[in-house]
Amino acid sequence: MPKRIVDWLDLRLGIRDILEQNLTKYLLPRNINIWYTLGAVLLTLFALQFATGILLLIYYQPSPQEAFSSVQRIMNEIPYGWLLRNLHAVGSNLIVAVLLLHMLSALFMGSYKRPRELTWVSGFLLLNLSLGLCLTGYLLPWSQLSFWATTIATDAAGAIPLLGADLVGFLRGGTAVGEDTLGRFFALHVMGFPLLFGLLVAFHLFCVRRTGVSKPPFGPDYTPPKEHDRFHHEHHPGGIPFFPHYMAKEAGVISFFLALLVAITFFAPGLFIPPTANIPADPFVTPPGIKPEWYFLWAYQVLKIFPSELMGLAVQVVAMTLLALLPFIDRSPERRPARRPLFVALFICGIAIFVGLSIWGYFS
Ligand code: HEM
Repeated sequence: MPKRIVDWLDLRLGIRDILEQNLTKYLLPRNINIWYTLGAVLLTLFALQFATGILLLIYYQPSPQEAFSSVQRIMNEIPYGWLLRNLHAVGSNLIVAVLLLHMLSALFMGSYKRPRELTWVSGFLLLNLSLGLCLTGYLLPWSQLSFWATTIATDAAGAIPLLGADLVGFLRGGTAVGEDTLGRFFALHVMGFPLLFGLLVAFHLFCVRRTGVSKPPFGPDYTPPKEHDRFHHEHHPGGIPFFPHYMAKEAGVISFFLALLVAITFFAPGLFIPPTANIPADPFVTPPGIKPEWYFLWAYQVLKIFPSELMGLAVQVVAMTLLALLPFIDRSPERRPARRPLFVALFICGIAIFVGLSIWGYFS
């Protein structure tokens, strides 16, 4: 019976041809490595994040009076509510970690270079959008942690000369974090950002599929691909089929990250949900030692070490702009790390500075 349905559809839509072109006859480089599977890990984690997010929406109430108690109800009364909430909170942290690894691997293997500039730029926008999703989601439980972390984060925009005060007012919908901040963060978190995110992911995958996956720049028979003046899809004759060979590899890595997510959710959810997240927001009591999430600690510390917040902000903007425009700055076609010693040195320094600032921020 299923064969008859497939035959019927195939006659009208040619689905066997689409599947062949994109699965069994779609060949990837023979020496493709595990780092290339992180994109698929991200797609899986985001799908899970959307699913748990939609289920949480059934009970969540976006108002200062009810937000905290609705989250407590999800945690304590709704069947498996605690599981959904913890999976969503831990999942967001795991996604940022995998995003950073995916970006670092693209940097190390030079896969941001021509003709993949648009893949890189769309990826960079996705990273920022994901951080925006984390920031807006953080306020929703309306706990002391949410309230004060958002107050600190939106305060930073005030350092911008002339526009600062207006920008803070625009972000908060008033002079202080309150009902209107929750309203706009909620709208962005559940609708605005996810819509934009879906479009950008589609564009990112379109870029990857059109240019073809890059050949890993390792091994004695690696030769840099020729530069083309016209559009050229990078083929890999003699490579491994996407299905079933490569998908089996992806399934293994995805299983590892899902196991990690489940392990943290069950055994150490407190790693990402500190005690101040369990106290309702009180605008009149500033709790001591409020810190942003681990992935914002570097930015938080940069704001503190410079004599003025404006300088700190400027350093962050310059660093992020350089990263976004990297494919247009580093234009040599060489991708082998051994032949890019200056880049590899800067790459290691960059990671060391990020980790160092984050640890400093955590203990300061
Ligand atoms: C929601 C976030 C993202 C998703 C779902 C995603 C997904 C993917 C997938 C499925 C691939 C193809 C397989 C692979 O190389 O992993 C890929 C490739 C790529 N991604 Fe992403 N990505 C995301 C974010 C990013 C970010 C933040 C960057 C960098 C700033 C980035 C840069 C790249 C580059 C340069 C490639 C091409 C790799 C190559 O062909 O060698 N992506 N992405």
